[in-house]
Order: sequence, then C-alpha cells, then structure tokens
Amino acid sequence: MKFFVDTAEIEAIRELHALGMVDGVTTNPSLIMKSGRDIKEVTREICELVEGPVSAETVALDAEGMIAEGRELAKIADNITIKVPLTWDGLRACKVLSDEGRMVNVTLCFSANQALLAAKAGATFISPFIGRLDDINLDGMDLIQDIRIIYDNYGFETQILAASIRSVNHMTDAARIGADVATAPPSVIHQMANHVLTDKGLDAFMKDWAKTGQKIL
Ligand code: E4P
Repeated sequence: MKFFVDTAEIEAIRELHALGMVDGVTTNPSLIMKSGRDIKEVTREICELVEGPVSAETVALDAEGMIAEGRELAKIADNITIKVPLTWDGLRACKVLSDEGRMVNVTLCFSANQALLAAKAGATFISPFIGRLDDINLDGMDLIQDIRIIYDNYGFETQILAASIRSVNHMTDAARIGADVATAPPSVIHQMANHVLTDKGLDAFMKDWAKTGQKIL
C-alpha cells in the first residue's frame, strides 16, 4: 500500500519523506487554509520535495471552471494530480482532464456507485472518505471493501485512495482490504510505530544492559 501524506505542512512532509514514508501528498482547500500559504507556492515546494503524485484541488463548481483551474494547477509540476469533487461537473472535468493525459483524483466519494462513475470517467484515483462516514455512524471501511470488489470485478485501473483517515486502525484495515493508497495526517503515520510492548520490552533491555556494565562504542 502506498502512503500519501494528507497535509500542506512542508516540514512534516520533509521529515516523513526522509524516512521513505511518502509516496505522494494530498491537499485540499481546508489544508491550504490551515497552512496559511499561497496554494501555488506551497504546492510547488511540495512537488520539488516529493517525486510521487501531489494532489491539488480545484475550487470551481462548474466543469469548465474545474478544467481551467486543473490546467493551471498542472503547470506547477509534472507530478500534479488534479483533484475534483465527485459531482456530475466533477466527473465531466475528470473525463476531459484524464483524456488529456493528466492525473485526476476524484474526491469526496461516499458511495460505491460514485466510485464506479469515477472509474468510468477515467479517474487515476478515487478518494473514499472513511472518517467522515464513521462520523455519521456508518462504516467507512465497508465502502473501501465494496469499491475493491467492484474495481476487481471489472479490472478498473483507478486506484483506491483511502482518505479521511483518522486512526492507526484505519491504516491497518485499508491495507488488509487492499486499498492501493492511504492518505493520512502525519500524526497517524507517526503513531503507527507505537506499541506499548515495544516500549516495555525496550525498557527491560535497557535495565539489563546497564547491569552488564558494557559499552558497544
Ligand atoms: C483527502 O484527500 C482529504 O484531504 C482528507 O483525507 C480529508 O480528511 P478529513 O475528513 O479528516 O478532513
């Protein structure tokens, strides 16, 4: 499973990238707002740092506007993925932009039927939002599972990008089901390294090592 980082914070991306944990980046208007940066400037910096796909989201609501914005964002770098919402206009924009050979990430997906439409429209990535479904008492992981089955049934090449990830369990479940990509906040990727038994075991090893009086260096 590829790891994308869901942030527009350069330092957080840089730190994870140095560890080989960043296969791509996703941003959205809320993340750009949180960063306090200019969208083109911060997206360019991310693209200089990360070789993989970097999603930049359009904000027009009509297809023509999304297409124009998508083409403009694509000028930033070759690894830009144009993010459009899963509306009928978004699907129209997806078809035009993907026919031009551009990577398109169709976002705000909340049903298997929406994912089916995005694949038919040539999306490179479909972004089902797990956490926001969990928030309204539905099971976001069921959606990932349904899309996996449907895409495999018909050999769709659209990659399932599990989004709106809020916990380490979401990462495990997405990997178990076979999501192609998971995009997570840096904090969740950091938490994946934690285990109480690792801490306990390390503590015991350190205490025993101190008793030996030895040094390695
Ligand atoms: C994905 O591309 C979105 O940017 C993101 O995962 C949304 O997550 P949220 O529901 O935690 O805002």
